[in-house]
Amino acid sequence: MLKMNNVSRIYETGTVRTHALRNFSLDVQEGEFVAVTGPSGSGKSTFLNIAGLLDSFQQGQYTLDGVNIQGLNDNALSSLRNEKIGFIFQNYNLIPDFSLYDNIDMPLRYRGFSAKDRKYRIEKSLERVGLIARKDYYPKQLSGGQQQRVAIARALAGEPKILLADEPTGNLDSLMASQVMTLLEELNSEGATIIMVTHDPDQARAVKRNVQIIDGEVSDFSIYAPSQNVSPIEASA
Ligand SMILES: Nc1ncnc2c1ncn2[C@@H]1O[C@H](COP(=O)(O)OP(=O)(O)OP(=O)(O)O)[C@@H](O)[C@H]1O
Ligand SMILES: [Mg+2]
Repeated sequence: MLKMNNVSRIYETGTVRTHALRNFSLDVQEGEFVAVTGPSGSGKSTFLNIAGLLDSFQQGQYTLDGVNIQGLNDNALSSLRNEKIGFIFQNYNLIPDFSLYDNIDMPLRYRGFSAKDRKYRIEKSLERVGLIARKDYYPKQLSGGQQQRVAIARALAGEPKILLADEPTGNLDSLMASQVMTLLEELNSEGATIIMVTHDPDQARAVKRNVQIIDGEVSDFSIYAPSQNVSPIEASA
């Protein structure tokens, strides 16, 4: 689904040169749920932005769903991004003056879906996150957790191949965070491929695969048994 090979990303600002990713390699298969952890400034968002075709890189190869992105122009990159990627950000990135319905509609319009198809997708995705009754609300009328669920609905409505989430629960209290995590886990069990950056070790442990980034490099892979598969006997042992 996603394959990065020796990707390097260097930022140059004035005299400062930052090696945000160095020889970064990672392979994510369809249906995986990967938690990305690591210290602040280690390159997690850089990795996610490159994965989501929002940022470029200087060296290495990146193949997304079988497409080698090398040499694609900006137009080709944006249509690939719109078609394959669903983004979920820490601050939700909803448009305050748009209703929930119109927030989800906007990227669908951009992709040229018919009005009928858009309506179907918007309603289905709002139903999926439990907010269909509030489709005419505005973001500020919702709690943070609800706003993040709208952002997830917006990502889902385009039927992306992969969901990329950068600290999706970073602004939420623990109850709302666990609701958003439950939703992401359900989506993954329904087949969605998810890569999530998180600072929360409990969240990382709840996810099947962990990738730690330190200083722009993958420093550790751990495969955890999903907690829900622990049998009662093992759990009490
Ligand atoms: N647009 C940019 N211009 C210059 N330097 C940048 C830019 N974006 C990121 N960097 C630098 O690249 C490094 C990696 O940043 P990145 O945002 O990927 O870290 P992060 O792991 O997501 O950190 P955090 O946990 O704080 O969000 C940092 O040193 C950062 O200052
Ligand atoms: Mg970050």
